[in-house]
Amino acid sequence: MIICIFVILQFLAIPAAWAQAANEPKDFPFTQFDVSDYSSFHFRGSSIAHGALQVTPDSENLELTNKSGRITYKRPYRLWSSDIDDVVASFNTHFVINIFRNNEWEAGEGLAFVIAPDYEVPENSYGQWLGLTNDTTDGDTENKMVAIEFDTKKQDFDPDNDHIGLNINTIKSKKNVSLNGLGIDLAPHPDKVTNYSVWIQYDGKTKAMEVFMAATSGSTNVEKPVEPILNDTINLKDYVKEESYFGFSASTGNPDIQLNCVWQWNLEVEVLPVKKDRTWLKIVIGVGVPGIVLLGLICVMLGLIYKKKRKRAIDEESLVLGTLKSLPGIPREFRYKDLKKATNNFHESMKLGQGGFGVVYRGVLHEKDGGQHGASTASTTASTTEIAVKRFSRDNVKGQDDFFAELTIIHRLRHKHLVRLLGWSHEKGKLLLVYEFMPNGSLEKHLYDSSNPNTLHWSHRCKILTGVASALHYLHNEYDQKVVHRDLKASNILLDSHYNARLGDFGLARVLDNERNSYAELELGGVPGTMGYVAPECFHTGKATPESDVYGFGAVVLEVISGRSPGVRIHHEQQHYSLVDWVWMLHREGRIQEAVDKRLQNDYNFDEANRLLLLGLACSHPIDSERPQTPAIYQILSGTLPAPHVRPFKPVFTWPSMVSTFSTSDTTLFNITSSTSS
Ligand SMILES: *[C@@H]1O[C@H](CO)[C@@H](O)[C@H](O)[C@H]1NC(C)=O
Ligand SMILES: *[C@@H]1O[C@H](CO)[C@@H](O)[C@H](O)[C@H]1NC(C)=O
Ligand SMILES: *[C@@H]1O[C@H](CO)[C@@H](O)[C@H](O)[C@H]1NC(C)=O
Ligand SMILES: *[C@@H]1O[C@H](CO)[C@@H](O)[C@H](O)[C@H]1NC(C)=O
Ligand SMILES: *[C@@H]1O[C@H](CO)[C@@H](O)[C@H](O)[C@H]1NC(C)=O
Repeated sequence: MIICIFVILQFLAIPAAWAQAANEPKDFPFTQFDVSDYSSFHFRGSSIAHGALQVTPDSENLELTNKSGRITYKRPYRLWSSDIDDVVASFNTHFVINIFRNNEWEAGEGLAFVIAPDYEVPENSYGQWLGLTNDTTDGDTENKMVAIEFDTKKQDFDPDNDHIGLNINTIKSKKNVSLNGLGIDLAPHPDKVTNYSVWIQYDGKTKAMEVFMAATSGSTNVEKPVEPILNDTINLKDYVKEESYFGFSASTGNPDIQLNCVWQWNLEVEVLPVKKDRTWLKIVIGVGVPGIVLLGLICVMLGLIYKKKRKRAIDEESLVLGTLKSLPGIPREFRYKDLKKATNNFHESMKLGQGGFGVVYRGVLHEKDGGQHGASTASTTASTTEIAVKRFSRDNVKGQDDFFAELTIIHRLRHKHLVRLLGWSHEKGKLLLVYEFMPNGSLEKHLYDSSNPNTLHWSHRCKILTGVASALHYLHNEYDQKVVHRDLKASNILLDSHYNARLGDFGLARVLDNERNSYAELELGGVPGTMGYVAPECFHTGKATPESDVYGFGAVVLEVISGRSPGVRIHHEQQHYSLVDWVWMLHREGRIQEAVDKRLQNDYNFDEANRLLLLGLACSHPIDSERPQTPAIYQILSGTLPAPHVRPFKPVFTWPSMVSTFSTSDTTLFNITSSTSS
């Protein structure tokens, strides 16, 4: 029945419009690129690095020869209309490119702006094929591809090694223009590095396509030149699909290589008039009164379903509460008014921090006789106990889910490096979890709080990392169900009075085998978590895995040893680095010990620091399957395994990953589709 209603609604094209509005990726213009833009594009053999789209691998990858790649904007555009004759969309695009080669490289092969039916890069499209076609497909009218090439290598059919061309289904340009005489050097000598602004304008009425180019220095914008350097007429309707993708394609050859970067991109495509929806009219006229009756019925049914659902939700809730109370080992239930009193009515001054989906308060419980609810915790008479109370903050229905999710996960976890749950309260829609209080606060506070004069001691740093690794190992392997924490960061690592680490905040944690590891189901409109701790693949899959937890751990290791936050860029010798890139650069240059926190004033163990930094880098590997797993991490920390071997250059992140990304035991987890990827 629901399906039938859905089909009818679909027919009226209502849900499609909703779905689109709800899931719009970040839009043009892009004046720079960073990892948060991964969700706006499709990547094939390409990445975002150093603030730019890297259409082929960037310099940190050792493999630069014989590569092709493609980056397309997430959604296709409608470029012509099959039911209105001769209507073709106009478009306007502006982008800034940089083709880089170093002293040793002859440039090759080229970059292209492409309009294509999909976002795949053809196999074996490296070398002369520019990621556009290959030996079998070149020239095929089924390619439905139109491109403007920026070619840096001469083939037999090219004028020279510095030209642009208009390509239709083949890399043999329909029209070519040599740039040599125009003072434009696409791949200049490395000490004359130049960015080029390119404008491509297409007029859907006159069918004129014009390309303009100008050298751009720094990041300032230049005026579009008056004269195009290439113009031609082309009826796009004859060549490309009605719905087509816009993007960039590029390739390198052997031995000729280059880096193909796009710094900025703006695109405007004319929105074609929507075809007159005659089907709608037909329904109304043809079905008439019965249709209205049907709609009425649908409304009634929807109402009933909603009511039933609501009732079921309430039933489920009381059922879950009942079950909760009867579970063996469930911590005690607190009365709301006691917790309210303990936290001074959730006073601002008692606030400890903001956690996943809630605010955490400090509380002081005064109890005459603890333990009457069967809890073993506050068992002394007339005691005062310090507690941490998390109050869930999202609206009722979601808050309910958050509360149960966190409660059901954490209550069964027992480990000396996890914050212990003391109890819960669920009264009048107020949802609270009570945790043991950690007198030393969070690791973040110890690393950055300027009011704290004492630098975190080296031995404490090592102890903290070992504790966190052991907690992760427990979650990933020792507990009977795999649990991913999803939000590993310094502010979620709490310290007890002896500086033992306790992993806290399970607000985002999920048990893996009930398929709830997708970030999408959190309805947060993207991947939550703090920049610098979230693994690159999460932006594509929207899913957390043990490997993405390990990435977060790597960030914590580098943070603890260097005393620098992964979310803050580092300015060093006229360059800006992320924490990982900075440590990697120091490693490459054989001076990794410079990464150690200066505030330690050399009061640390050199070998240990070296081992930990290398471990941090290994965990930060862009390819998830290459990261060490928790048993190895634990052994490296304890010194029973030597420091991992780390390549001098950070491997490039490409998506999908060239290496098999998922370990076989986890494959079933990836069958659920995330709403962010469609
Ligand atoms: C690159 O491709 C060319 C042509 O297909 C081939 O001869 C060469 O061996 C390849 N080189 C590498 C390093 O793959
Ligand atoms: C060219 O690309 C197509 C599509 O990716 C592929 O099926 C075909 O095998 C490729 N041809 C060669 C020679 O690699
Ligand atoms: C491309 O350039 C070459 C050399 O300048 C020229 O001979 C050829 O006609 C051009 N091709 C087209 C399609 O314009
Ligand atoms: C190219 O553009 C980027 C980003 O706007 C800028 O950082 C860089 O300095 C520019 N390079 C040159 C040589 O102008
Ligand atoms: C290209 O530009 C030139 C000079 O502005 C003009 O004479 C010519 O008609 C244009 N050609 C096309 C095909 O638009």
